[in-house]
Amino acid sequence: MRTDYKKLLKSKRYKVAVWGTGYIGLSTMVYFSKKKIKCVGYDIDKSKVQKINSGTLPLEDLKKWFGFDIKGLVKQNYLRATSNYKNLITDDFLVHFVAIPTEKNGRPYYKPLINVLENISKIKKNNKFPPVVIVESTLAPKVSDKKIIPFLKRKKLIIGKNILLSIAPRRDWFIEGGKNLENLDRVYGSTDNKSTKVTKDVLSIVCKKLHPASSYKVSEMVKSVENAYRHMDITLANQLSLAFPRDNIREVLKLVGTKWNVEAFHPGIGAGGYCIPLSSRYILSQVKNVKKLSLLRETIKTDDGMGKSIANSISNRGLKKIGVMGLSYKGNLKVSVLSKVIPLIESLKNKKLKVKLYDPYFTDKEIYDAAKVKTFKFPKDLKNFDCLIVSVDHKQFKIPKKKLEQYLKNCKLIIDHDGAWKKYKLKNYHLSGDNGWI
Ligand SMILES: NC(=O)c1ccc[n+]([C@@H]2O[C@H](COP(=O)([O-])OP(=O)(O)OC[C@H]3O[C@@H](n4cnc5c(N)ncnc54)[C@H](O)[C@@H]3O)[C@@H](O)[C@H]2O)c1
Repeated sequence: MRTDYKKLLKSKRYKVAVWGTGYIGLSTMVYFSKKKIKCVGYDIDKSKVQKINSGTLPLEDLKKWFGFDIKGLVKQNYLRATSNYKNLITDDFLVHFVAIPTEKNGRPYYKPLINVLENISKIKKNNKFPPVVIVESTLAPKVSDKKIIPFLKRKKLIIGKNILLSIAPRRDWFIEGGKNLENLDRVYGSTDNKSTKVTKDVLSIVCKKLHPASSYKVSEMVKSVENAYRHMDITLANQLSLAFPRDNIREVLKLVGTKWNVEAFHPGIGAGGYCIPLSSRYILSQVKNVKKLSLLRETIKTDDGMGKSIANSISNRGLKKIGVMGLSYKGNLKVSVLSKVIPLIESLKNKKLKVKLYDPYFTDKEIYDAAKVKTFKFPKDLKNFDCLIVSVDHKQFKIPKKKLEQYLKNCKLIIDHDGAWKKYKLKNYHLSGDNGWI
């Protein structure tokens, strides 16, 4: 009879290991432990480990997203973290979720992945129940064939026999509570039948909608391709806006989005964050003849050039002192990974404009380290700028209109990316993509 890994995990004799306890890994641990499965996370960041073990979320912005406290889960011993990887390679770990970063400075980066595989490969080879490795991190197409599988083979692990393997990318949206591990459609693909069955057992403990791919090669590619589509769509919005700067492309696209099979996108400073800006690069990095994917090449070129186009437009208007509001790539979140604000600021500085950046989620040092500019006080220092770029809609930016207007007397241009001040009807105000914003 087939061994049911779900039952084994529910028996509490077996546990789940999670490698990397950031957004993805921590949410995996929290959702599985909520289902009364014992989870232990390993992280090289000792402060994260300490916080988890004291029942505190190391990522405070996730508190609202989870909608429940982790203290109880830690107390009942369902949720634990460690800085010693050896604690995760004992026989009682049936599952190894891999949730470490796979990019650095905008490029695919696999050192942490190899490091984790090196640790996992120290498991015993004759386990009664071979553990399943489920890679949640985003991988470029072909990384499994080029890196993961050869690595495990070199370590004399037989896939499908003494180790099982699946690629199950994540799609969570850490801003909206409902878009989580439980509710979102989850694609997974495996190397063999046993891995497929075991992965289904494991993921079905938490994920309600599973879509098995015929192989890991397919599930691995799904993640990059779905995001490359979004990358192209967002960039087309920007190209339209650059081509028709006197037309309200923002409104055009909003109404285009009312068609039943078209999604609405709006022009702006470009695509940021972990997934979208990398997706096209991930795909291109594995293609011999990149000319065959000219759409993706053009997408990257236009997207990367948005900061320069905006800086040129601001400089041509004779504006000199620029205040940028928001380092995060999305509102109400402390994530600056591949934030398009960083190249935008660089382009503004190249035009010899004076730039300062404010983001309530980051310290002055964090702001300087990320964007190499000083910060300013909000709202009082707004009076010092003749141009403001509001790049995200952090809730802290939404102060009463009367109070805000006091500080905007010198401001000759406001570019609002996510509509943080849309309802205020301010003077010299533009939503990105409307007529005259660029
Ligand atoms: N955050 C998202 O919205 C999101 C969505 C989908 C996919 N992803 C993908 O998931 C992966 C993880 O993203 P994240 O947002 O959780 O990143 P994160 O930076 O929040 O967390 C990664 C964690 O891994 C730890 N780490 C680094 N090297 C390690 C190592 N060698 N061993 C153990 N731990 C190590 C870090 O200290 C950190 O705590 C990436 O591939 C990312 O592209 C992220």
